[in-house]
Formats: sequence, C-alpha cells, structure tokens
Amino acid sequence: MSGFFFTLNPPSSIMRTVIYPGSFDPPTNGHLDVIQRASRLFDRVIVGVARNENKQPLFTLAERRTLIEESVVDLGNVEVDVFEGLLVEYVEKQNGNAVIRGLRAVSDFEFEFQMALMNRKLNEKVETLFMMPRASYSFLSSHLVKEIASLGGDVSAFVTQSVRKALQSRFGKAARN
Ligand code: PNS
Repeated sequence: MSGFFFTLNPPSSIMRTVIYPGSFDPPTNGHLDVIQRASRLFDRVIVGVARNENKQPLFTLAERRTLIEESVVDLGNVEVDVFEGLLVEYVEKQNGNAVIRGLRAVSDFEFEFQMALMNRKLNEKVETLFMMPRASYSFLSSHLVKEIASLGGDVSAFVTQSVRKALQSRFGKAARN
C-alpha cells in the first residue's frame, strides 16, 4: 500500500515551482485570487511580469512588480519577477514545472488554449494549468479597471488599495474614493 502512494506522490525533495505570467497592468483582485490558490498548491510560485514591447502599458514594469509585491507579502512561497522574451525559456531558467493561467470564462478559452499548445510545441516539458478565480471575479479585467478608473468610477472592489491609489495618481481626480 505504501509503495502505491510512493508512486503517485513525488519524493518530497522535489520542489514544485510554478510560473504565473502576465501583463498585470494593473494587477486585479482576480489575479491575487489565482496567486493565493497557486500558493496553496505549489512549493514556489513565481509571478512573472512580462515586458511586452508591442503593448503600451499604463504602469512601468517596475511599478507593476511593486504593486504585486505589496499584495503578496503574507505569502511566503510567492516571488515576483520580471521577464522578457519567450515564456518557455523563462520557465526553464527558473526550473519551473508548469505555467498557471487564469480562466475567467469560456471567452478566455480559445486564446489560452492556443497559447498553451504553442508553448507546448516550443517546449514539450512546459505544462500549462488553468485555474478559475472566484466566480465573483469572472467579469474582472485589467482593461476594464483602467477604463473605469479613467472615467472616474470606483474601482475599490476590484483592486488593492495600492493599485487604486496608483490609478488615482495616474488619472488624477478622475479616479475617486
Ligand atoms: O496578462 P496577459 O497580457 O494575458 O499575458 C500574456 C503573456 C505575457 C503571458 C504572453 O504574452 C506571453 O507569454 N508573453 C511572453 C512571450 C511569449 O512567450 N510569447 C509566445 C506565447 S505562445
């Protein structure tokens, strides 16, 4: 019986590292929910903030990194890092076992499926795992948060205090509360 369990469970000396990549421009409570869930499943979670030359982010790479760092201080097995270039190469560099991506709704699926299979084609060893954030965050996106903040709407239910303040300073008086 014990042999059976030994086969299923990896030796405890194996460190399971997962990479959670994204733009996080800005990080939302949905992202944090996924980070918290991943931190309970893996030994080490690396949140990889991507530098993407094709996108014009509202926040710099350093700002996005800091905004996430501030919200994961209580999670001892979570690190925040920045990366550029191919995700699969970054995963290998970090000795990662898998990539986590959040799936909010069916509409996310097509792109995520394409990206997961492309990453597998680029590197067979890199698995992609999908995690669903809490249902109440299924409508949440960084894009909508930025739009609401830029138009003076209240985003306090969607992001941390630090992110809300950062949005406020970026959009001036428009972002209230
Ligand atoms: O939060 P986002 O914008 O949906 O994250 C997309 C991200 C950063 C995960 C994706 O663009 C990515 O992996 N970029 C790194 C470059 C890369 O490996 N591209 C090929 C993906 S198949």
